[in-house]
Amino acid sequence: MKCIRSIIEVREQLNSWRNAGDVIAFVPTMGNLHKGHMQLVEDAKKQADRVVVSIFVNPTQFGVGEDFSTYPRTEKQDKEKLESLGVDLVFMPSVAEMYATSNITTISVSDISEGYCGAKRVGHFDGVATVVSKLFNIVQPHKAFFGEKDFQQLAVIRAMVLDLNLPIEIVPVAIVRESSGLAMSSRNGYLSSEQKELAAQLYVSLSVAKEKILLGQADYSEIEQQACSKLTKSGFEPDYFSICRQLDLKKAGKADKNLVILLAVILGKTRLIDNLQINL
Ligand code: PAF
Repeated sequence: MKCIRSIIEVREQLNSWRNAGDVIAFVPTMGNLHKGHMQLVEDAKKQADRVVVSIFVNPTQFGVGEDFSTYPRTEKQDKEKLESLGVDLVFMPSVAEMYATSNITTISVSDISEGYCGAKRVGHFDGVATVVSKLFNIVQPHKAFFGEKDFQQLAVIRAMVLDLNLPIEIVPVAIVRESSGLAMSSRNGYLSSEQKELAAQLYVSLSVAKEKILLGQADYSEIEQQACSKLTKSGFEPDYFSICRQLDLKKAGKADKNLVILLAVILGKTRLIDNLQINL
């Protein structure tokens, strides 16, 4: 496995693979790899000749007071995991390498970036869209793999790729969960064992809401309110619990068939997100 930190060297390697006719898959990450990331890589391996993974904790997607400085950096273990999966190249640029220019250009995907996590984490999705478009320009993959755990992020990236006519297929990968139901996330490492046990309630709340919808309960706001009040009683601070349309993340109505329930809560000092799709 090649480990490269410079943009010029990544470009040279990728050009030679592309010129040889290889299909390139790309998995962008911020490292601290868990089974969710491993699934992205495994899916990528099945669909391409070469798999490139980036590890870059991107400062521009963290707000003031967020966890940029404490975000877990586990480069050695990450490289071992990627090597064992047969990844071809890991790109690990420094902040200075990625942001060496004037940085007066930002990619902002309006509307879909603005609600939910975008409302609380102002500027977060601009940071994500900008770094992902930079990484896309550096790697120029045929396909890029993103987890459905960050459902709004996936929607933002899809809109960006469509609007900017980027010739990249975005491949969604299903959420990987612990046996308790808790969605895998690097931020789960911030939780105490009691908090981790409690956090399994998030998937329960999503499943209960899904069941109500499948049974035909028509008042989605009531389902949302009941879920929020149950989560509050259990010790969470809910940010949102919203039944939305998968396509554009607008509030879902009775006529909509492809739904996703999005949730974000604070547990102690940790922000957790999860979601569940429903196809009626
Ligand atoms: O999902 C992530 O880990 C990050 O938001 C991404 C896509 C790697 C951009 O920094």
